[in-house]
Amino acid sequence: MSREIKFVLNGVQTCVTIEDDWNLLYLLREKLGLTGAKEACGRGECGACTVIVDGLAINSCLYFAVEIDGKEVLTIEGLAAADGTLHALQESFVKNGGIQCGFCTPGMILSAKALLDENPQPSEADIKQALAGNLCRCTGYVQIVESVEAVIDKSGGDINAAVRETGGSD
Ligand code: FES
Ligand code: FES
Repeated sequence: MSREIKFVLNGVQTCVTIEDDWNLLYLLREKLGLTGAKEACGRGECGACTVIVDGLAINSCLYFAVEIDGKEVLTIEGLAAADGTLHALQESFVKNGGIQCGFCTPGMILSAKALLDENPQPSEADIKQALAGNLCRCTGYVQIVESVEAVIDKSGGDINAAVRETGGSD
């Protein structure tokens, strides 16, 4: 069955007609042209499709599009500032070697953002736990964890300070 849903997508009120059996990843990639979230396993095991819904990092391949009605969705396309300035996490992944092919990176960064929004001073164990559902086939995980830690160090525990320093958006 088709239905209309309304939600906030990267800060913009959005209204689309969907089919009940679409998942959020399909809606984002195939209907809205937002290809930052990647499809890999398609069954909740790799985190390549991670986006943030109402503050929580979720696997969009397992999330029915109909469930986002009335909610707020952040994808990697909404993270940088309007002028293209990268978010502190994006910049840190680039600087600290947390990115190689980049396939896993949007999901990694959004999982890290959801963590830092909830806990601005996570331990290494907290970071590893938050990223446990995000698989990377090329960097190894050391640089990825370091990329997140570098943002914490820079911000002194205030992620928004790091964002302000780099000029990125929240
Ligand atoms: Fe969604 Fe792998 S594509 S978790
Ligand atoms: Fe290639 Fe993670 S950078 S999969």
